[in-house]
Amino acid sequence: MTDGDAGLRDSFGRIHTYLRLSVTEACNYRCRYCGPGVVHRGLSDDQLVFLCSLFRSMGIRALRITGGEPTVRPGLIPLIARLSSLGFERLALTTNGTSLVRDARALKEAGIQSVNVSLDAVDADLYASLTGGFPVRPVLEGIAAALSEGLAVKLNCVLLADTYRNQVRQLMAFARKLGIPLRFIELMPFGDGARWEGVSTATLVAFLGEEYGEEASPRGPKGSEPWGSGPAEYRRFGGVDVGFIGALTSCFCSQCQRLRLTNEGQLKTCLYHPDRLDIRQLLERGSPPEEICRRIEAFVLRKQLRHAFQTGPVEWPLSSVGG
Ligand code: 5AD
Ligand code: SF4
Repeated sequence: MTDGDAGLRDSFGRIHTYLRLSVTEACNYRCRYCGPGVVHRGLSDDQLVFLCSLFRSMGIRALRITGGEPTVRPGLIPLIARLSSLGFERLALTTNGTSLVRDARALKEAGIQSVNVSLDAVDADLYASLTGGFPVRPVLEGIAAALSEGLAVKLNCVLLADTYRNQVRQLMAFARKLGIPLRFIELMPFGDGARWEGVSTATLVAFLGEEYGEEASPRGPKGSEPWGSGPAEYRRFGGVDVGFIGALTSCFCSQCQRLRLTNEGQLKTCLYHPDRLDIRQLLERGSPPEEICRRIEAFVLRKQLRHAFQTGPVEWPLSSVGG
């Protein structure tokens, strides 16, 4: 096994300290641009905990639980408590927020420190039309509940070209009221995403500049990515820390320190690239931990330099690779 401090290094010198763990491909929502795909047999709790203990020993310091929608996995909270006991420095969750009113306290107690809540609109009608008919109010209340439990909250928003102006104004007002960062992710051509037109970071920066004026001294919100550089570039508009994730128009691949484990046990070094390591097969063949670690190290070593979204759409939805 690798010495934990050495980390999982690739051939370009990038050290991987952050694992995104998809615990289900299922989702209660049907967001326009996502369209969750086929749900496969997922790894068991024991398999996930075992694998995460190996990743921890190989230098992974931060773990984010993703989906699909992770909170639809039965028994998520006890699973998180087990993952938390492995000693990651950061433990975070990405969610659509539907269960936060109920679960915020239990998530905090299980060891979650921060939640990224997907919130594409504050207006009830628009939110319903984007998500497949869901009410926004429980999500807004869930965000308040998470904050009052002491969880750090960031909002994640994907904009579509037709609706973005009002969306942005209302989201900015909401983020300002709660004093939390708002991040805009460029629509990526995954699954149904390829059928819609997104809004580029450049267009959005121009719009925010006209509406609010940019404030001096751009800075990242405190504690936003304590495990190192994240893909968001933060600037300040209208009293809000606004993060831009230029997934398409800017390339942060050279700083990438992330790995992804899909719900069916496939390790991915890149959201975009089809390359996968079938860890489930290794587990189910009874491979010893040392061999699994060696295979992971060899797989990370051959990580490619950058994505190539520009060359065309990707067939699978983002929900199948854990956002
Ligand atoms: N492009 C960009 N972001 C996407 N998400 C889902 N599909 C896409 C896509 N095609 C986002 C959701 C959520 C996060 C988990 O991934 O909006 O914020
Ligand atoms: Fe579900 Fe997230 Fe896809 Fe929306 S974007 S359907 S919340 S997995």
